[in-house]
Amino acid sequence: MNKANKPELIIDGRRTDGRNLEDLRSVKIESGVLDNADGSAMVEWGNNKIIAGVYGPREVFPKHFSDPYKAVVNFRYVMCSFSSLEEHSRGGPNRRSIEISKMGKHVFENLILTEQFPNTAIDIDVEVLQSDGGTRVAAFTAASVALVDAGIPVKGFAGGVSVGKVDGRLAVDLNKIEDNYGESDVPVMFNSSNSEILLLQMDGLLTREEYERSIDLCYEASKKVNALQVDSIKKKME
Ligand code: CDP
Repeated sequence: MNKANKPELIIDGRRTDGRNLEDLRSVKIESGVLDNADGSAMVEWGNNKIIAGVYGPREVFPKHFSDPYKAVVNFRYVMCSFSSLEEHSRGGPNRRSIEISKMGKHVFENLILTEQFPNTAIDIDVEVLQSDGGTRVAAFTAASVALVDAGIPVKGFAGGVSVGKVDGRLAVDLNKIEDNYGESDVPVMFNSSNSEILLLQMDGLLTREEYERSIDLCYEASKKVNALQVDSIKKKME
């Protein structure tokens, strides 16, 4: 990204897509969208479109990959070749997707009651169909709903958002242009039932005060995301 071409990101207090600094984009969550997965969810978060499928708990092959004390969680994050303006048809995993998949594994190892399913594996696959910044939090949000849809016992929902510094101001839920040209980016996710932090990453620089304020803003946004996650499951039950 050539920062020399950086556009103005905040004009008269409004962002490039018309939002105020603390506004989330529109978030829609639908659970149970796939017939052949044990659980699934579709999230449309601004211009992001993400689908998550969950399969398991299943038997582990080869057997030496299994854990006699808990289920093994596999998480796979994939950006479809047509999802990005930057990487047309470059298939296969890359450094970024490996990193996000590893973060997803950690998030859900801490959320699923894995001890209830020793010697099994739980697969969580997320495909980014269209991307516009904040895909990891949107992907984990979708995965969290898909797990509940699959009936897998969890400690809560994983919900959150990315807050960052844009033109010197903190902004909630960065889109791609803000993410790419902004000064920093802090994606945070919480366990809805005990507010434990499940994901905390940081790119760029913030003062200690800005960092603490970012976490507070992520927490407030996570509550809104959690409410939509619960609604999506209730709607399916009805
Ligand atoms: O998506 P997230 O913000 O979690 O991750 P990121 O690495 O900070 O990427 C920010 C955004 O840049 C993504 O959401 C995509 O819109 C875009 N991107 C892309 O289009 N192609 C890539 N290979 C990487 C990022």
